[in-house]
Amino acid sequence: MSQRKLFVTTALPYANGKFHIGHIMEYIQADIWVRHQRMQGSDVNFVGADDAHGAPIMIAAEKAGKTPQQFVADIAAGRKEYLDGFHIRFDNWHSTDAPENHAMARQIYRDLKANDLIATRTIEQFFDPEKNMFLPDRFIKGECPRCHSKDQYGDNCEVCGAVYAPTDLIHPYSALSGATPVLKSSEHFFFKLSDPRCVEFLERWTQDGRLQPEVANKVKEWFTVRENADGTKSEGLGDWDISRDAPYFGIEIPDAPGKYFYVWLDAPIGYLASLKNLLDKRGEDYEAYMASPNLEQVHFIGKDIVTFHTLFWPAMLKFSGRKTPDSIFVHGFLTVNNGEKMSKSRGTGLDPLKYLSLGMNPEWLRYYIAAKLSARNEDIDFNPEDFLARVNSDLVGKYVNIASRAVKFVPGGKLAGGWDLGVMQAGKLVDSVKLLYETREYGKALREVMAFADDVNLRFDSAAPWKLVKEGNTAEAARVCSECLEAFKVLTACLKPVLPELAAQAEAFLQCAPLDWSNAATPLGAGHQVGAYKHLMQRVDAKVLEALFEAPEASPGAPPPPSSPEGEGREDKPGGEDLAPEITIDDFTRIDLRIAKIVACEAVEGSKKLLRLTLDVGEGRHRNVFSGIASAYQPEDLVGQLTVMVANLAPRKMKFGVSEGMVLAASHGDEKVKPGIYVLTPWPGAQPGMRVR
Ligand code: 2FM
Ligand code: ZN
Repeated sequence: MSQRKLFVTTALPYANGKFHIGHIMEYIQADIWVRHQRMQGSDVNFVGADDAHGAPIMIAAEKAGKTPQQFVADIAAGRKEYLDGFHIRFDNWHSTDAPENHAMARQIYRDLKANDLIATRTIEQFFDPEKNMFLPDRFIKGECPRCHSKDQYGDNCEVCGAVYAPTDLIHPYSALSGATPVLKSSEHFFFKLSDPRCVEFLERWTQDGRLQPEVANKVKEWFTVRENADGTKSEGLGDWDISRDAPYFGIEIPDAPGKYFYVWLDAPIGYLASLKNLLDKRGEDYEAYMASPNLEQVHFIGKDIVTFHTLFWPAMLKFSGRKTPDSIFVHGFLTVNNGEKMSKSRGTGLDPLKYLSLGMNPEWLRYYIAAKLSARNEDIDFNPEDFLARVNSDLVGKYVNIASRAVKFVPGGKLAGGWDLGVMQAGKLVDSVKLLYETREYGKALREVMAFADDVNLRFDSAAPWKLVKEGNTAEAARVCSECLEAFKVLTACLKPVLPELAAQAEAFLQCAPLDWSNAATPLGAGHQVGAYKHLMQRVDAKVLEALFEAPEASPGAPPPPSSPEGEGREDKPGGEDLAPEITIDDFTRIDLRIAKIVACEAVEGSKKLLRLTLDVGEGRHRNVFSGIASAYQPEDLVGQLTVMVANLAPRKMKFGVSEGMVLAASHGDEKVKPGIYVLTPWPGAQPGMRVR
């Protein structure tokens, strides 16, 4: 087969925050695929960039006292630490605010306009009468017009994926001021997606087998004019509003002063801009590269941004006379402990930098995520106990164990002959695993790899080389163990896309050429000299895993980590921290606070911070809640007391058991300045189960 030529991207992260675990999962998924491709000799360009534009970033920059350019540059400076840390090897990282992207976005727009696919229309848009500005979509919230989920953003629904205009929201409110926005007229630019040319093209393009079946089915619904269950009508494809009024951080629309491209117009163009920037740096011709007849363009994305990538993006490319993507690989969300989805804009669960700073091995996470991934866009869950068990049992107990045990019985590290890897069907394993990586069935690939490792360990155990040596049969011990080391080499190749560093160390130990799919099943051969064995991987320690998730429950009511140096500028803030951003009464009422009676309380063995509380919230059953208040209270101080708890918090599985809520307590923003934790108690008369409002 001739060498494949691949242009691969992951979704461009907004430049208004650090990476969270959801980003890292996507990058790991794509990085594994790219490494697999390289192992079969494909020529790959794997690029990313920061998605720099949009009103939210402009507003965040203003709040931080920076220009938007400075703000996004500061965010960009932090990216390397994560990418290097998790061995995610992009060939280039760029920005949608770079000159290449400005030029390309303006040219694509001009081409679409020349093709009569741009229209202008005066629309009524939400305006914040208190802030005196048109409200960006993300700063208008309300009820989704399709699925009626509350508190959804103005441009799309995170629950059902609907894309709509902010004016379609039910009960809208300004997230900046809480005010009810008013409608004001403004001229906007539209991409005429409803044009029959676009509709006809997209109906074909989305259903021709290039999308995952479940994605193609979902997309199909968006073309149909139909009556919904709630009596509303879905109209099929509508035109797409691609302009925003100044003030806006973005790319000015040609010949339209004061009008800017909506961030989602220029964001995917950033894929091309990053590629062009890379090719320019290498002195290669971008146009020639894009015109290569065998070039495959592949985008890895999350299921929340399918509309942008399967409708707007291919239509923009097609009707501006450009190449359209060959594959859009959609993955699900990552949850932690079956918790909430790792939304891009609403917090995190497993902090990737904290993971690294605790000295945790990045390849543990790569392996665990890969073991859970499939080609489907279903959600996957990070479960700490499962993580520990899988890494320790599979990687250390099965894979690494083979090398560490077998090498001892191969005198001088010189491999003996007299075995046949074909018996173990190493070639079959390699072929199968290669195909599974290709189709992104990583979980299945790793299951096959571990089943093979089980076989190898079984051979070792049943041959009992230690006994053979005792019986004076060192040659037979060396034969069996050489076979095991040969098998270890095959396993190393099969794990290499997921565990590149471990594979490099194993290659150094085996003293073999860099492994790829062409040499994976070829034996090293009798007489091959392996090096001295150094331990390849540590086990996951339960304590370090506990530390990874410790902070939230260790300090109830504690603030997020200070963004300024310790203590600095905190004296004038109430309780040592800034007030949290304003919320509406609706936000508040989503939290169900109840009076709870502490019917029992005990120390938690193995934790200095936690107490285990048994709470009666008037439900006819008791709740188990862990609270990080052990430094402030003896269990007996609390028994019989009333307190306030968050009663509708999703249960959290912790190392010590499930926590079914959270007890409220006060503390200073900086516990070094003012230590102390104070559990809340109601005035006399309150009864368990009463709601606090
Ligand atoms: O959803 C997001 O995080 C967007 N910043 C993704 C953009 S992907 C591409 F189009 F740039
Ligand atoms: Zn919805």
